[in-house]
Amino acid sequence: MGVEALAHRVEFEPPAPRVLPQAPRLAFRDLKVSFAAERGLVPVVHGVSFDVLPGGTLGLVGESGCGKSVTCMAALGLLGPRAVVSGSATLDGRELIGASTAELDRVRGGRIAMIFQDPMSSLNPVHSVGRQIRESLSLHRGLEGRAAEAEAKRLLDRVGIPSAGQRMKEYPHQLSGGMNQRAMIAIALAGEPDVLIADEPTTALDVTIQAQILDLLADIRAETGMAIVLISHDLGVIAETCDDVAVMYCGRIVERAPVETLFAGPRHPYTIGLLHSLPRLETQIGALEPIAGVVPEPWAAPAGCAFAPRCSGASALCHAKAPQLARSGGRSVACHHPQIRFA
Ligand SMILES: Nc1ncnc2c1ncn2[C@@H]1O[C@H](COP(=O)(O)OP(=O)(O)O)[C@@H](O)[C@H]1O
Ligand SMILES: [Mg+2]
Repeated sequence: MGVEALAHRVEFEPPAPRVLPQAPRLAFRDLKVSFAAERGLVPVVHGVSFDVLPGGTLGLVGESGCGKSVTCMAALGLLGPRAVVSGSATLDGRELIGASTAELDRVRGGRIAMIFQDPMSSLNPVHSVGRQIRESLSLHRGLEGRAAEAEAKRLLDRVGIPSAGQRMKEYPHQLSGGMNQRAMIAIALAGEPDVLIADEPTTALDVTIQAQILDLLADIRAETGMAIVLISHDLGVIAETCDDVAVMYCGRIVERAPVETLFAGPRHPYTIGLLHSLPRLETQIGALEPIAGVVPEPWAAPAGCAFAPRCSGASALCHAKAPQLARSGGRSVACHHPQIRFA
């Protein structure tokens, strides 16, 4: 090839690759869940989408009954035979919805671990805490014998259980609620998961232990790059721990934003209501006001915007037509009359 031809080739060389946006570790797209009931199929989650980057923390917040747990459990195939799930949830691009039990078994506990509000629902009462951690170490990391024993002790130390060597031999009923919560986190971490879904992990605990556990999760994330989905009904907990927040109401995300953006100026009246009912921000925003009314049951959800019956700013349009989640300026809001400034 002559010099000219070479020069020509060089000229048409593609530009050096720029830094590509990071691929999400976990991506939910239009995830829908209904449950078969006597009255028919009851939709509970209406199309939820979000991404979590490696090392990122997404807070999923909303009052009890808004569909936070169901959304996450759907991705792990934990909802049982009466659930009808559609849409997509991928882990590093691999589809979880409709995956076989064998595939999900490989993902659960190993790649994605989930911890629940009530540790007694996931701890086995007839095995010692140490044995339960060793089982996870054996299953997900192939550790046995002395190596498993040492690693189990290290994990219990790591989650702040004093005298870990002794505690390992004890059974869940011998430990306090806070200790069991930590033991459950140790079991979840034993598989070195890429994603931890923490479903109200501190709700049952007193404030001091709650803060310790949130700090612990933040430390582990910083060390390992584990992504976290933190489910909570408490925006205060989310504020301390998360990068991004998705606010859920009646099975939909109504507002999604980076945490600073959301707290600096929430747009959705529901988010504002959640902030108003936060004791810690009382001085900033005036009187503590719980949101009037309750979350409707899924089968009784109103037409139009589901929040309209509880919203002081609702118009005829709100009662007639459900608003779409619309993106602007790095945030998304589903509201016909979003607030421009913090009330
Ligand atoms: N197995 C189920 N069968 C029928 N309905 C369910 C089932 N699990 C949850 N639900 C309903 O789905 C809605 C969302 O529940 P959930 O995701 O647990 O709310 P959250 O975690 O936000 O408190 C609730 O109305 C709840 O009653
Ligand atoms: Mg829940």
